[in-house]
Amino acid sequence: MLVLLTLFACAPESDDSADTSDGGGDAVAGAELFGGTCKNCHGADGTGGVDISGTPSADLTVRAPALSDAELADRIENGFGTAMPSQFTDPADVADVIAYLRDTFP
Ligand code: HEC
Repeated sequence: MLVLLTLFACAPESDDSADTSDGGGDAVAGAELFGGTCKNCHGADGTGGVDISGTPSADLTVRAPALSDAELADRIENGFGTAMPSQFTDPADVADVIAYLRDTFP
């Protein structure tokens, strides 16, 4: 009984009103993070093509669906190529942005 209670207490929250990705991120918070950073280079619609420092930004409507969660996390945490710097290193922020990407560019 005690074991069952403990398991129950540790179970992930089932209220998923804002949780829209399997990775557990919050797409609503992710939208704000995207709007504050990613959007500057990839555009609100994600199609990119913005050239800020020598390389046009990637089209996220094409690249996001092609990459795994781990690959997206790598791009967000470490940056990509020479023109995209690291964006977020807090794992919660990274998960939120990925949840937003999965919702918006499936
Ligand atoms: C300063 C501009 C800039 C910002 C801010 C930025 N990016 Fe990028 N991003 C780029 C550029 C430029 C490329 C293409 C780099 C290359 O091809 O060498 C890119 C590429 C990517 C790719 C494609 C990687 C691949 O493997 O093909 C993904 C995914 C991506 N960005 C996601 C994001 C997300 C998510 C954010 C916000 C958390 C973000 N970017 C913020 C400029 C930016």
